[in-house]
Amino acid sequence: MNKLDILLGLQWGDEGKGKVVDALTPNYDIVARFQGGPNAGHTIKFEGKKFVLHNIPSGVLTPGCVNVIGNGVIIDPYILKGEIEGLCEAGFDLRQTLKIANRAHLILPTHRAMDAANEKALGKMKVGTTLKGIGPTYTDKTARKGLRIGDIGLADFCDKYNHLKESHLQQIKNLDFDMDELRLDGMTFADYEKAWFEGVEYLKQYEFIDSEYYINEALDAGKKVLAEGAQGSMLDVDFGSYPFVTSSNVIAAGVCSGLGVAPNRIGKVFGIFKAYCTRVGTGPFPTELFDETGELLRQNGHEFGATTGRPRRCGWLDLPALKYAVMLSGVTDLMMMKSDVMDDFKTVKVATGYRYNNKETKHLPFAACTETMEPVYTEIPGWQQKIEGQIPQKLEDYIKFIENYVGVPIKFVSYGPDRTQNVWR
Ligand code: GDP
Ligand code: IMO
Ligand code: MG
Repeated sequence: MNKLDILLGLQWGDEGKGKVVDALTPNYDIVARFQGGPNAGHTIKFEGKKFVLHNIPSGVLTPGCVNVIGNGVIIDPYILKGEIEGLCEAGFDLRQTLKIANRAHLILPTHRAMDAANEKALGKMKVGTTLKGIGPTYTDKTARKGLRIGDIGLADFCDKYNHLKESHLQQIKNLDFDMDELRLDGMTFADYEKAWFEGVEYLKQYEFIDSEYYINEALDAGKKVLAEGAQGSMLDVDFGSYPFVTSSNVIAAGVCSGLGVAPNRIGKVFGIFKAYCTRVGTGPFPTELFDETGELLRQNGHEFGATTGRPRRCGWLDLPALKYAVMLSGVTDLMMMKSDVMDDFKTVKVATGYRYNNKETKHLPFAACTETMEPVYTEIPGWQQKIEGQIPQKLEDYIKFIENYVGVPIKFVSYGPDRTQNVWR
């Protein structure tokens, strides 16, 4: 049976998924996103050009590749319109190659307002969301109240919109949130809502599909399909550091529900991680560094959010967390990113366990919390050499240490942001 491959992040997002999907796309006919929304920011660099994608799959820069936004994704028409127009200006016409699932849910302007109101109400306990309306939209999806892409063409779309908007405004009022103060991408709510409806109209020129049939029939016809994850496994709504997570299943299981593909149709699972760790937003991060080494990782790695511009928290590689993520998704091939960021380091540390309640463990505790968990580190000599054609021996030793711990081979090592800066092992 022809199977679909998956590429997903194994840490807290921003592992470099965009770069790798773009680099792998020549091997695929279709790239499909299966969850998340414009909270994602996937960077692709080549020939001195830089693109950051939020809703559109990262296969879009490869001519001929079809890009599907699957049913598990949530879409803000204003943001998607801007993204398509930006690509169009750069010479990429998506009218034949971008397809959007009828069943994908819409992020309404009031979903974004609710995201802001919820975060404000949480105060110190806020999640540090991207404020794109992700939580409220997935909440409405599971509460069976949401609006979907396929609803756009229906006669009662505006009625449904107004009905949902009114119920949101009531909830926002209950939170004592001042809508007059709200700015969405620099706009007042009224201006944003107008731009949102322009986005809705704009999207009508694109093909809305039943993506479950489209993907399964493409697989039956022998087409090669890659599912592109967003966020990272440690932000998964079930297995991440709840409640400091996103609102979707970002692990491989999310592909089955987010594209309508059965488990026996899953082939390779590429799991991607940085040679260290980063996190944006609040929540536990056991190996976080607050010293000059953390700052060095941030500066060398340009660790500032692709969606929000926020500085990313930085720390050492966390192997128990990596192994957990590999287990959850059945990762077959590991890909290590950004080893170049530590090229000058004399030594590198990796967490191989935690001290938790006075005991050592290799499992992530249910009540993971930075205050009560202390990482147990192994120190490894740095490689102090760049990758030039081949991997330096000491970097090989670092790679083998990770492979031995996790039990899955590292097949691909990335040593720079450009699509060509990779070595296959
Ligand atoms: P994504 O969300 O997983 O697609 O990752 P982001 O695009 O948010 O963040 C990854 C950042 O690292 C981007 O700025 C990439 O251009 C950059 N990048 C990717 N791979 C490498 C690498 O191997 N080395 C370096 N130095 N930068 C990389
Ligand atoms: P990519 O696909 C890094 C984080 C937010 C916040 C939490 C919940 O680029 O790797 P949300 O807006 O989803 O409700 O925020 O999840 N987050 C990400 N962190 N990369 C991402 O996407 C993220 N998407 C969401 O910072 O902590
Ligand atoms: Mg990102």
